[in-house]
Amino acid sequence: MIKKGIILAGGKGTRMSPLTKAVNKQLLPIYDKPLIFYPLSILMLAKIKDILIIVNKGQLDQYKKILPNGNNLGIKISYLEQNEPRGLPDAFVIGEKFIGKENVAMILGDNFFYGQSLSKLLLKNTKLKNGARVVLHKVLKPESFGVAKTNNQNKIIKIKEKPKKFFSNLAITGLYFFDNNVVKYAKKLKPSARGEVEIVDLLNFYKSKNQLYADLIGRGGAWLDTGSMDDFYKTSTFVSSIENQQGLKIACLEEIAFNNKWINRSHLKQSMKFYGNCDYSKYLSKLL
Ligand code: TTP
Repeated sequence: MIKKGIILAGGKGTRMSPLTKAVNKQLLPIYDKPLIFYPLSILMLAKIKDILIIVNKGQLDQYKKILPNGNNLGIKISYLEQNEPRGLPDAFVIGEKFIGKENVAMILGDNFFYGQSLSKLLLKNTKLKNGARVVLHKVLKPESFGVAKTNNQNKIIKIKEKPKKFFSNLAITGLYFFDNNVVKYAKKLKPSARGEVEIVDLLNFYKSKNQLYADLIGRGGAWLDTGSMDDFYKTSTFVSSIENQQGLKIACLEEIAFNNKWINRSHLKQSMKFYGNCDYSKYLSKLL
């Protein structure tokens, strides 16, 4: 069972400037919550309780104001800083001690997932023993993503970052499950032409050992990468329409923790006090 998860929540946020000049992207709002709540909710739905959040140097205090240590959620949150955005696999070098001898999940801080069979997929993937598993989603413009082609046993047979020539329309999303070799492999990576270590290179280690598997989020599920201004607002609109139609919140962390029986009613009351008089607290009061 994978019991540890990393959220990579640093980055330059260049495409979202000037919004990201003073505030990190993951602390900006997707409708009624900070973006970081959404990837955190995914790890919690995977029943992962030991979580490392990697943030940019100098931004720790901002994060701790909204997610101090996880006590109110019945989980453990720890933080480490990344000096500069050296690339996604850098998370496993920074997180080496946190990972220890275990397997690990990683989610990018700006990735949004939603869909009916998602929890099932997450729980299945946390059973990983050997190799790596990625989550794929069909996209209209594969040339803008890391892309994968699978065989009929859901094994990945080809991957490429931003392919110029079409070979598949399945994008590799920012949710990954790795065995403990990930630390060793991540350390071996050399920066690419753009000066970063690349997730595709890391995945290639697993592919070369015939150990890279994929799961598909079907058409009933949504994956949105909130990296650009447009995508950011599209995701906000998506959350607002679902929440206002159903009256159920997406990524209400306390609700997930409460349903998982990680917290009790008194925790919920404490959280309501923490957030103050707002819609989010009113929603928590309905759970009581
Ligand atoms: P990106 O979208 O690649 O980068 P970014 O968020 O800095 O935005 P931009 O391209 O506009 O400059 O990053 C994906 C996610 O991973 C995002 O949540 C930031 C995070 N990240 C890190 O925390 N450290 C890193 O070294 C990199 C490359 C990304």
